[in-house]
Amino acid sequence: MSLKDVLIEELRDLYSAENQLVKALPKMAKATKTAELKSLFTTHLEETKGQVERLKQAFQIIGKKPTGQHCNGMEGLVEEGKDAIESDEEGPVKDVELIGAGLRVEHYEIAGYTAAISIAKALGQKEIVALLSETLKEETAASKKLIAESKPALKGASADEDADEEEEDDKPKTAKEAESKAKSEKDEAEAAPELSAAPGKTPKSKKK
Ligand SMILES: [Fe+2]
Repeated sequence: MSLKDVLIEELRDLYSAENQLVKALPKMAKATKTAELKSLFTTHLEETKGQVERLKQAFQIIGKKPTGQHCNGMEGLVEEGKDAIESDEEGPVKDVELIGAGLRVEHYEIAGYTAAISIAKALGQKEIVALLSETLKEETAASKKLIAESKPALKGASADEDADEEEEDDKPKTAKEAESKAKSEKDEAEAAPELSAAPGKTPKSKKK
């Protein structure tokens, strides 16, 4: 596999990721009642459509088709975002959840574009570097705006916390939550033994 093939793979991955986001961002915007956050998601949706176009231009330069690879990473992030969208929380707590999901998405994209730009640079693909750098700037700005938007959300959520006395138990309430809990315990069990000890317990020796 040549370095150019790696670049094509990275770009196809990003192309799939951006297309998945074009579908997901309207749902994120719909899930918040906060006007500023709604407009942040909506503005980033329009930017994302432009990012899809830039990737198409990059593929024109290379002379390849943009489709061919599904981005599993973004599928997972969108799936996690769904938890925030569907959560029963309301107001600032829900916004905090949505912002967390949004930040994960932006940073995943920042990593993807940073990698693709360095490969395109190494290949001397200046036009592609310019296209991808423009998108990287937008992703970085979106992430900063999300962090700024988290401040009022966190303030509101912590104010509600004082009023809200009831403690929720963390028992799974749905089959999905039960599956998630079981998997998290498997993650812990399969980690290195020195990492798998719960806080305050001594690590168990690894059985094989
Ligand atoms: Fe993007």
